[in-house]
Amino acid sequence: MKTLREIFPKGKRVFVRVDFNVPFDSEGNISDSTRIEAALPTIRHLQGEGAKVILASHLGRPKGECNPQFSLRPVAAELARKLGQPVIFLEDCIGPEVESAVRGIYDGSVVLLENLRFHPGEEKNDSEFSRALDRLTEIYVNDAFGAAHRAHASTAGLPALVEEKAGGFLLQKELAYLGGKTENPERPFLVILGGAKVSDKIGVIDALLEKADSILIGGAMAYTFSLAQGCQVGSSLCEPDKVDLAKSILASAREMGIKFLLPVDHLISEKLDFKASTTGETQIIEGDFPEGWSGTDIGPKTIALYLQEIGPARTILWNGPMGIFEIEPCRKGTFAVAEAIARNTEATSIIGGGDSVKAINMGGFSEGINFISTGGGASLEFLEGKSLPGVTALEIMDQSV
Ligand code: 3PG
Repeated sequence: MKTLREIFPKGKRVFVRVDFNVPFDSEGNISDSTRIEAALPTIRHLQGEGAKVILASHLGRPKGECNPQFSLRPVAAELARKLGQPVIFLEDCIGPEVESAVRGIYDGSVVLLENLRFHPGEEKNDSEFSRALDRLTEIYVNDAFGAAHRAHASTAGLPALVEEKAGGFLLQKELAYLGGKTENPERPFLVILGGAKVSDKIGVIDALLEKADSILIGGAMAYTFSLAQGCQVGSSLCEPDKVDLAKSILASAREMGIKFLLPVDHLISEKLDFKASTTGETQIIEGDFPEGWSGTDIGPKTIALYLQEIGPARTILWNGPMGIFEIEPCRKGTFAVAEAIARNTEATSIIGGGDSVKAINMGGFSEGINFISTGGGASLEFLEGKSLPGVTALEIMDQSV
């Protein structure tokens, strides 16, 4: 894959696929602009080189229809604030009007196209839609690591049509951290996995069992492992149909001599109300949960146990929260883990997955982290060892072979 330093974009229309799929709060404001900030180095570099920068992204899942709720217009305003200069927002991403607008801009200008997914051709990787995007493009750059696991028109179809193409700074950095640092990790290599479902993480667990020295489990997926060990988990979120899978993971870890730690105690609550952010009565429990109670966080003994593992680790990969950290009484585990990772300045720390990133930002621990991945599904698929269509599409043949 070429890097940005190997292309010559002066005066050229450079189509940059970014991942501006950012979250919004209930008032319609962007609630986390990490993904916009992460694309700035590539945008600024191309501007500095005198390119006409044409940014394209998806936002949400509008199912191939124009839906103002998923418009990228507010993102253009936020990007303009961050760049400290105007961003030209176009109300569509293909068509004669868009073509003439992008041909008319000055070198160094930045354009943001409207949501690619307003057209069904984007997700279908439709060749006609790819050709329509190609009419805007002289050089193609992909900096959308978060969407690199999608074989869509803007990530796969379009780059196949363009001769001059490169990976942006963010894409390259993601591949270097998630690939390089976990391929030959400084040891001990500790993996911390949480989140709701074992089924979402099974591929990653299998792949990381081969590489990690220890794996710590938290979040609701821990309750499926508790079921596999014959414990009662009350009304906790869990996957009873994945109990056999959990048993086979535990058996593989044992056979391979990997330290695979599960919570030894839990915070449980009687009445969870997500809307009101309340838990009702709570208690710390070891062993079986009473009927009707749900697990909401790891308990204090588990926190102490996990912190003992984080201290000496020299590479730490964390994906998925330890509990329902959005509700104040249930965030101790997630925040304790986040803080311990941030304080371990001797380790290379890599955080992936939207929820753990949100927890790191909420707790104010991001400064202590070496790398925060912008990829949710993309980082998991990459760590599983799957090839990412958005990356493969940038690969160039070695002419000497
Ligand atoms: C993400 O948020 O993980 C990426 O932007 C991909 O979005 P998608 O899952 O809707 O394809």
